[in-house]
Amino acid sequence: MDESKIILREKEIPQSWYNILPDLPKPLPPPINPKTNKPVSPEDLLPIFPMSLIKQEMSLKPWIDIPDDVLEVLKIWRPTPLRRALNLEKALNTPARIYYKDESVSPPGSHKPNTAVAQAYYNKSEGVKRLATETGAGQWGSALAFACNKFGLKCTVYMVKISYEQKPYRRSLMQVWNAQVHPSPTKLTKAGKSVLKQDPNSLGSLGIAISEAVEDAATHDDAKYSLGSVLNHVLLHQTIVGLEIKRQLEIAQVQPDILIGCVGGGSNFAGFCFPFVKEKINGKVLRIVAVEPTACPTLTKGPYQYDFGDNVGLTPLLKMYTLGHKFVPAGIHAGGLRYHGMSPIISLLVNEKIIEARAYAQNPVFEAAVLFAQTEGFLPAPETAHAIKAAIDEAIICKEKKQEKCIVFNYSGHGHFDLTAYDEYFAGKLKDFAHPESAIKKALASVPKCIEL
Ligand SMILES: Cc1ncc(COP(=O)(O)O)c(C=O)c1O
Repeated sequence: MDESKIILREKEIPQSWYNILPDLPKPLPPPINPKTNKPVSPEDLLPIFPMSLIKQEMSLKPWIDIPDDVLEVLKIWRPTPLRRALNLEKALNTPARIYYKDESVSPPGSHKPNTAVAQAYYNKSEGVKRLATETGAGQWGSALAFACNKFGLKCTVYMVKISYEQKPYRRSLMQVWNAQVHPSPTKLTKAGKSVLKQDPNSLGSLGIAISEAVEDAATHDDAKYSLGSVLNHVLLHQTIVGLEIKRQLEIAQVQPDILIGCVGGGSNFAGFCFPFVKEKINGKVLRIVAVEPTACPTLTKGPYQYDFGDNVGLTPLLKMYTLGHKFVPAGIHAGGLRYHGMSPIISLLVNEKIIEARAYAQNPVFEAAVLFAQTEGFLPAPETAHAIKAAIDEAIICKEKKQEKCIVFNYSGHGHFDLTAYDEYFAGKLKDFAHPESAIKKALASVPKCIEL
């Protein structure tokens, strides 16, 4: 009988994170300090991050040990299952094997606590008392609230206003774990006030919420900022996902042909695929597919150039695919994928054609999510459903071509707090947005010209 899940023992949890930086085909273009037009120094980042995370951000060590106190918390839900979507395969009548890594089993319900726990630990070790952050879908905010609660830190969350309104229960969950949650843009920061002055009805965006959280951390001595995606150290902490999958696929005695993940800032996708990217760079035949919404087509329509990570321009400049830091995406339900930029490492790998990218509109994505829930039983987050849609499309191609490929996707989170979105889908109220070229051009006009080093 085909096994429907591969479970590791607790003692098999990876003990080190995999750092892809030394294995990249080209050196990563450095983040630039916009004031000096020179690469940022560790000291530039100290007002917002603790030194241990700054060192990880820049480290070229291929493996970095996971501290015991972090492993102790991760053990609450790790290792996570690798499941085989046998019923979905049957429904599609495909010869393909479809596996998915179930990151929805963490207490907050997604992959996000893999880095939240590590970040809370390092901040606590350096005497920080409070962390400030942004959240889109509410998954990252709840993950950081959970992690701060575990390590006795205070937590302030700037939640993108449209998600705050669409997902009141994510806010409740953050409050259960003692976080203070504000709908962003707020009147609490200069950044928020300046956005509200231009557009009092602003729905907010991740870029705006990041500006608010960075300003909060930079203007309070006992607080630091914590980011849930994009940066190298965040992606590093997520590699525990891909390292577990490698072991699980060995147990199942299969080799992956296609790896698929959704991308917002890139963290779940990176953690899931980086341990395999190394093999691809070394010559292995493997397709690696990043999936984004057509409403926020960063990788499929944006240029690869330096831009700010936030809306107001408080962060260093990062070389990445970007739709322009002033870009505010349409209010689609995959809130965690509404980000104008992309992790610089993923951007480099897409530019080098090691990773491919595609975009889907939200109606076909929800259709895929419902098919998945009706066959496999689990209800995915709208973000995760982008990966499911791509996996289904690939499985259908396998059927047409009679190919027995192995497709693996990352099930980054559950959709138990996203039922309003499912209601709207069933009521036929979901709009599909294709982001027009003219809007991209307009937003890109605000991208600063930066000297290429
Ligand atoms: C369930 C889920 N998947 C994916 C994402 C996208 O983020 P990232 O690209 O950093 O994994 C989010 C972000 O909030 C999320 O909540």
